[in-house]
This record gives sequence, C-alpha cells and structure tokens, in this order.
Amino acid sequence: MKIDVADAGAGEEFTSRFDPRAFCGGVAAKLKRPRFLGIVASAALAMTMARKANGRVDGFVIEGVSAGGHNAPPRGPMQLSDEGEPVYGERDVPDLEKIRELGLPFWLAGSYGAPGKLAEALALGATGIQAGTAFASCEESGITSELKAQVIGLSREGNARVFTDPVASPTGFPFKVLQVEGTLSDSETYGARKRICNLGYLRRAYKKLDGSLGYRCPAEPVADYVRKGGLEADTVGRKCVCNGLLAAIGLARVDGVSDEPALLTAGVEVANIVQFVKPGSETYSSAEVVERLLKTED
Ligand SMILES: Cc1cc2nc3c(=O)[nH]c(=O)nc-3n(C[C@H](O)[C@H](O)[C@H](O)COP(=O)(O)O)c2cc1C
Repeated sequence: MKIDVADAGAGEEFTSRFDPRAFCGGVAAKLKRPRFLGIVASAALAMTMARKANGRVDGFVIEGVSAGGHNAPPRGPMQLSDEGEPVYGERDVPDLEKIRELGLPFWLAGSYGAPGKLAEALALGATGIQAGTAFASCEESGITSELKAQVIGLSREGNARVFTDPVASPTGFPFKVLQVEGTLSDSETYGARKRICNLGYLRRAYKKLDGSLGYRCPAEPVADYVRKGGLEADTVGRKCVCNGLLAAIGLARVDGVSDEPALLTAGVEVANIVQFVKPGSETYSSAEVVERLLKTED
C-alpha cells in the first residue's frame, strides 16, 4: 500500500507491506470483506470515490459541518471568523441530488441525532442516519461518568458549546472541541500540560536526510518536531488528541508528575442532549436515545 511521506521528493514512492501469510505463520484465514462506506462531506468526493476507487464502494455517510469529531475543511481558501473558527458557506452543503444519482445507499450525519430527523433523512432519500453526539454522553459511553455529568449539566444550563478548532488536531483537519472547564479546551489547562508524544496514532511519516523514514507530530515537543524538519509555526495551538481522548475515557497517562487532562469532542447538537434525560433521572441510556430518535413528533 502506498503511504504518504512528508518531505519526499517528487515522484518518490513509499510503500507499506503486510503479508497475511507471514503474519498468520502459514495459511492466512479467509476474511469476509466488510462493507465499505466512505465518510464524505461533498458530492464531488462521493462521485470521485464511487467512480475511481479500485474496489467496491458500498455506500456513503454524508457528514455535515455540525458533526462531532473531525470535520472536512471549508471548500476554497481557509477563512476564519472573528472567533477563529473556519467559515463554511453554501458550497459546503452537500448536493444530495448528485449523491442520490449515484444510486448507492447513504446515511446522513451531523445534527441528525434529534427527534424527527430520521424521518427527514428518509424523505431525502437516505437509508438512515449516523449520530454520535447523542450517544457520547449516554450511560454506555466510555467517557468518564464525571465528564458526562459535567456535559449534561452544561446542556441543562444552556452552556454546552463547541469550538471548531482549525489547528487543535495534529491531522490538520478542523476538530470540534467541547468547551469544558478542566479539559484541554481551557487555555490554562492546555498551557500547563507538558508536551509528550508517547502514543503516536496521528504521527506522520517524513523522509529523513539520510533517506530513511521517521515519524513526527505537530503536537509533540516543539524542539523534537523542528529537529525532524517540521515548521515551528505548525506546532502552535496543537492538542495531543491521542492522550486527550484516552483521558476522556479514564485512561489518562499518570506519570507521577502530571495527569493527562481530557479532551472532549461533540457536535453542535450537544446543546440539546439534556432532552434525553427523563424527569427524575441524571443520566440516560442508549436505548432511550434510540427510542427518542425513532419518534416522529415531540
Ligand atoms: C465523541 C465522538 C467521537 C467521534 N469519533 C469519530 C471517529 O473516530 N471517526 C469518525 O469517522 N467519526 C467520529 N465521530 C463522528 C461520528 O461518527 C458521527 O458522524 C457524528 O457524530 C454525527 O454527527 P453528530 O455529532 O451531530 O451526531 C465522532 C463523534 C463524536 C461525538
């Protein structure tokens, strides 16, 4: 498989090999091919994928800009609002007409985890919806109970907000950061954290001067990144998504010096998650979310 390598010369190709036979120590097991559903934010990308992929594309998740996690960047040059968030416009609204014409099943995502939205998606020709934000704070979610209670409390007070951070994620894609005191959204907490790259899930391969491959991440210690040929400007405001998300599920690195602060992500709909909490309760289950999402009217 071809891999993307920073600082590689034009036309230079790097590949990663995986041999199932060697890995299994003999005959490799026959694997069942899972369905391939591309997650895209535009009809153009869906069309390119459907027509040019060298394998079967079984459908698409069409994800709008209000969705939790990473978001696609706006089309065209990046422009930031006064608050520092990417500015999205009409061109960023996926053209469902073109997507329907592809004739493949699709699911709509991004603020579809609300009552009535499933029916709306079906009416638009979708096979269903994908929701994340509604489930991230439910009882079965791996996020710690303390953080979930904090987020539900913020929604109840009308103070649950997300910031679409253009630089937080080492991937370079905009990333929705839920604003919660004591987590990495807090500039004091962020500033007090000592940078470390000990997990490396988002590292990027780069070509070293001697031609071999190394790995770097713009959220690692700045001096390390610069020594590896990265630009200092690319390290500004980067957040360690690896450690931050693990801390959010109670697996924070504890080295005796400092505990890793959590990093929370959610979509714009987080403002309304308190709707899933029944009177007399402080929490809600995934079944209660499904029950409410299947309701056609409130
Ligand atoms: C806590 C959280 C983590 C997510 N992690 C991923 C991820 O690792 N990969 C991915 O493709 N989408 C991820 N998403 C996006 C969801 O798969 C889904 O498309 C999105 O949440 C739908 O929009 P909604 O947030 O308005 O419900 C995540 C969403 C949330 C809320």
